[in-house]
Amino acid sequence: MCGIFGYSGTKECNDLIFQGLKRLEYRGYDSWGMAVLQGKKIHQYKDVGEIQGSAKLEKLPKGNIGIGHTRWATHGGVTKTNTHPHISTSGDFTLAQNGIVENFDELKQKLIKEGVKFISQTDTEVIVRLIERELKKRSLKDAIIHVFKKLKGRNTVVVLSNNDGKIYAVRNGSPLVIGVAKDGTYLASDTLSFSLATNKAILLENYDMVEIDGKSIEIFNILENRKKNVNTKELKHQFTQIEKGKFEHFMLKEIVDQKETLLFATEYTEKDLEPLIKEIKKGKRVYLIGAGTAGFSAGQVAYFLRNIAHIDAQEIRSYEFKAYLPIVKKGDIVIAFSQSGETADTIEAIEHMKEKGCKVASLVNMYGTAMSRLSDYEYYTNSGPEICVASTKVFTAQCAWGYLLSMSIAGKYRKARMNIKELSKDIAKLFTKKSFDEIKRVAEYMAKRESAFILGKGENAYIAFEGALKIKEISYKHVEGFAAGELKHGVIALIEKGSVVFGIIPSSESEDSSDLISAMEQVKTRGAFTVGIGSKEFSKMDLFDRYIVTEQVDNVSSISNAIPFQLISYFLSVRLGNNVDKPRNLAKSVTVK
Ligand code: M6R
Repeated sequence: MCGIFGYSGTKECNDLIFQGLKRLEYRGYDSWGMAVLQGKKIHQYKDVGEIQGSAKLEKLPKGNIGIGHTRWATHGGVTKTNTHPHISTSGDFTLAQNGIVENFDELKQKLIKEGVKFISQTDTEVIVRLIERELKKRSLKDAIIHVFKKLKGRNTVVVLSNNDGKIYAVRNGSPLVIGVAKDGTYLASDTLSFSLATNKAILLENYDMVEIDGKSIEIFNILENRKKNVNTKELKHQFTQIEKGKFEHFMLKEIVDQKETLLFATEYTEKDLEPLIKEIKKGKRVYLIGAGTAGFSAGQVAYFLRNIAHIDAQEIRSYEFKAYLPIVKKGDIVIAFSQSGETADTIEAIEHMKEKGCKVASLVNMYGTAMSRLSDYEYYTNSGPEICVASTKVFTAQCAWGYLLSMSIAGKYRKARMNIKELSKDIAKLFTKKSFDEIKRVAEYMAKRESAFILGKGENAYIAFEGALKIKEISYKHVEGFAAGELKHGVIALIEKGSVVFGIIPSSESEDSSDLISAMEQVKTRGAFTVGIGSKEFSKMDLFDRYIVTEQVDNVSSISNAIPFQLISYFLSVRLGNNVDKPRNLAKSVTVK
């Protein structure tokens, strides 16, 4: 969702901004724009669709200071007029925003009554017009502060001024980080976008205003009305490369990366986990929160905590946290899961739970994000950039970390490390030509059907939910995941000849395997096309039209069961000619509510 990139320094900024925006592409966008200051004049370039250079962009005058923006349309269609930055009538400043101005209509109506004319349909233009009005009474900096305080919602604005040649930015909720490099100052929605230039970052708090001119950086908190010290943090695990390597799509690369990323996420020593474990042991209840895929890993980790470590663990969809607030108590613990670390729903849930006196831990993939900063205990999945909108490697990394945590609480840290090592070797068998061919056959069958169902139970229930989300996201097929027990209570009404039904079958050591077999029998009898995913023991049964074997490693096989669904989703999407890495309507980083 919307990305901001800015630069002020000794280098020529046009290409830096262009490349910075390309590195923000993964967040999702439908149009993009840049503004560069040359001499005393601001020059702009805007385009809809993919970020690519054109003869027109080449003509944008070169400068050393400028800003760029990727827009994910919320208010107003995908047009050049609605694309940011939005320049003031006099051309004195230009502004881009990330977020939503929740009270924009009220503000806009007042301005219209005063005779102010609007060019675009965006909520952002309201900020520009309000600043213009304030400029009659105060300086640009004071006008930005004055107007920003009137905005409701989570928004971050960045302003390029031609008068003093400065960039001003104010953050509230939506992400903004500063990169401090030898050649100048970078300003962006994430640290990944400027990681080729520097790993030194300034992490801003809400209502921090930053003022940069290439030589100096000033930070001022507009609510506390005070100048702040500039604290630069060196990011230890910084990634620089965003490359597909030999793969056609980021998604396939990221799926195959899981051989290593399962290990990276579980490199934590017992000592590293100890503070959180102590907190969990003395706490009352652990709430695990997240949204989308991260919500499913929260569910999976809650399962591990309950069943391996016997901890009172409860998953909550972060956007549903309000329904639980009445029972959340001081001393409860929250563990937040997130790839981006910037998901608005999850941040809001954390803030409310902190107000209740909960301690917060987070497991995040990106560095320097709001979620880590809000946390008492910060952990990282260390999976490297996940560029495909559909999350794959970060999901399994989150589950593996949760498994390590649960096993450590149960006093089985070493065994957990061994099991994950074994698992990471075993999953490689899914990445062979033979396995891909088998999975493609399933995808081929699905390509001709409109829907599918995935049944799991116990340790595989959340894998069924996640498997369904994965296929939906990029194939646009209607796939639902269910706890197998649900089948006879209603879902079975949907089954007809040819319906695709997946069953996740654990090894015969698990009582759940017989329930799954019986559920699959019931759908087979009604003519379903059955696909088993799981233990080899059942692979030859006539019950299944297709079977994808996953290795069964102690009580952690559920993690490997997620991978065939990722691959089905991938091959199905390729077969259907969809945009695998950037599915329609979705953004990687959901920074608005
Ligand atoms: O960055 P987060 O992990 O907090 O994002 C949460 C969801 O928006 C995200 O998992 C989404 O569901 C993905 N598209 C899943 O593939």
